[in-house]
Amino acid sequence: MRRKIVAGNWKMNKTVSEGLSLIEAIKANVAKVQGAGVDVIVSPPYVMLSEAAKALQGSSVKLSAQNCHQEESGAYTGEISATMIKAIGAEYIIIGHSERRQYFNETSASIAKKVSVVLSKGLTPIYCNGEVKEEREAGKHFEVVQRQMEQELFHLSAEEVKKVVIAYEPVWAIGTGLTASPDQAQEIHAFIRKQLSNKYGADVAESISILYGGSCKPDNAKEIFSKKDVDGGLIGGAALKAEDFLAIVNGFN
Ligand code: 13P
Repeated sequence: MRRKIVAGNWKMNKTVSEGLSLIEAIKANVAKVQGAGVDVIVSPPYVMLSEAAKALQGSSVKLSAQNCHQEESGAYTGEISATMIKAIGAEYIIIGHSERRQYFNETSASIAKKVSVVLSKGLTPIYCNGEVKEEREAGKHFEVVQRQMEQELFHLSAEEVKKVVIAYEPVWAIGTGLTASPDQAQEIHAFIRKQLSNKYGADVAESISILYGGSCKPDNAKEIFSKKDVDGGLIGGAALKAEDFLAIVNGFN
């Protein structure tokens, strides 16, 4: 059975004290909405990961980083390794987010390496893909996502890929208030699962959680999550308020 997951990507928001307040508010009420078996994850900025890990001790809420470097250590000023993130106690790392591709020149080659290094540390990559607006309008979204998976994910063995969480995030829906309709999300999630099935077999494909991200809010989460191949969400703006984030988690109930 694949996991249901709601992960909050805080991006470059919140100071340490603001972030800790948000964590306290999530912890206080998460049990009411978590139901049976939803994994709830928060992904604060690097500078508060350590404090966040302490604040989350003994809680069901899990911790993710938003990025890491592809090398294990060395002379890479300003960068953070998967080893460091693991040592803090985080279990997940978001890899290949469209903002990193767009603003920080992340390439498919570096994303492929990052996915591998995260797995090699025993952590779970939340691997993001998705098309930009022009590609969607040109009807190219299937081929874009397929190419991304071929270049960034399909170097993994079946055993490795089973440990990856995929987040499909159409770039035109991120922070824009535009959301993929539940049917659009289902259509491309099914396509992603089909590509996984073609490469690794149906059993592996069925075991991988595929999250939707892009203007997912309390008022649309339930319908999106009800779709067969949507296993949860990667939430940006709405993850910055405990009430909204928990209402989204509640979309599974
Ligand atoms: P929004 O929910 O703000 O559209 O962001 C989605 C996202 O990029 C999550 O990683």
